[in-house]
Amino acid sequence: MHAYLLTHYGSGGLQHGTAPEQPPASGEVTIRLEAIAVNPLDWKIRNGWLAQMIPLALPGVIGSEGSGTILEVGPDVVDFAVGDRVAGFIDSGAFAEIAVTRAARLVRLPAGLSMAQAAALPTAAEAATRMLTLLRPEEASTVVVNGAAGAVGSMVTQLLARDGHRVIGTASAANHDYVRSLGATPISYGPDLVDDLRRQADSGIDAGYDTTGHGFIDRVAELVDPHRVVTIADFEAGAQGAIVAGGDPTQLSINDGVREVIDLAAAGGIRVEVETTYPFDALAEALSFSERGHLRGKVIVAGYDRSPAEISLA
Ligand SMILES: NC(=O)c1ccc[n+]([C@@H]2O[C@H](COP(=O)([O-])OP(=O)(O)OC[C@H]3O[C@@H](n4cnc5c(N)ncnc54)[C@H](OP(=O)(O)O)[C@@H]3O)[C@@H](O)[C@H]2O)c1
Repeated sequence: MHAYLLTHYGSGGLQHGTAPEQPPASGEVTIRLEAIAVNPLDWKIRNGWLAQMIPLALPGVIGSEGSGTILEVGPDVVDFAVGDRVAGFIDSGAFAEIAVTRAARLVRLPAGLSMAQAAALPTAAEAATRMLTLLRPEEASTVVVNGAAGAVGSMVTQLLARDGHRVIGTASAANHDYVRSLGATPISYGPDLVDDLRRQADSGIDAGYDTTGHGFIDRVAELVDPHRVVTIADFEAGAQGAIVAGGDPTQLSINDGVREVIDLAAAGGIRVEVETTYPFDALAEALSFSERGHLRGKVIVAGYDRSPAEISLA
């Protein structure tokens, strides 16, 4: 099968190649991937920044999330059947045509979602619901979301707005209309952040949701008590009292909260923004686009043109 192989850490480390297919073991299924979502996790792994936390045998297939159709079901899998449309977290690496993963890491897709939308949902929904479980605001609170236009930020923003909270979301100017469409008041994260936040929330801010770091918790500490901020991106923030919503990315699974968000998206209750879609042949460019750090929603890779592979994983 065609796959992208990480041959060495660094920006040029991904090469289009071929890799052998593996049979599914107990509790696993094989999927033909139709759409792959790019996550910051993927280029952090490619760059070698997580080599200690997630050790890999190189060359190997990476990629964390995708959607497709089940080709084969391993022993002891009872919830899925061949032909099911699914999305979720991918054990064997999502940058491939065919992948094997634990069934517990997948959700069967409700009608109403395209494969691209489905691929865009699991990580964002899992991270957003984890943040909201760790820090649930009082009724009708005023809250701030840092990085409201990003994949996780878009999700947290919409879930908070749906729950009746007043949401202020930081984003670059180009994404302000988009953030408004998610139900939030946009402000910029530039030098005027604190003044703008104070102006928008004169009666105080109950909670903060930091999806992107960049010193946000320190910068807004005079307006938002760090103990009332949850972050998925600033792992030093525990020292200031913030709630760090960490998690081993290789062990994330689909829970009821994620299923609810996916159902809501399929019913049109949540917007799933795909900023751009790259063909499989341009997967390395899709990672570069994500790495620039100014996403609106998600970057998706879909469509296999099958140009000749450069290398082979025997
Ligand atoms: N711990 C976990 O379990 C977990 C799970 C998922 C993700 N994450 C991490 O969470 C982070 C966000 O993930 P994502 O998928 O949502 O990323 P993403 O889609 O790439 O979004 C990043 C966002 O950061 C914003 N941004 C850029 N510079 C900024 C600044 N100086 N101040 C504030 N915001 C800024 C961008 O806003 P504009 O586009 O408007 O400029 C962009 O929307 C990543 O570091 C990822 O690795 C952690």
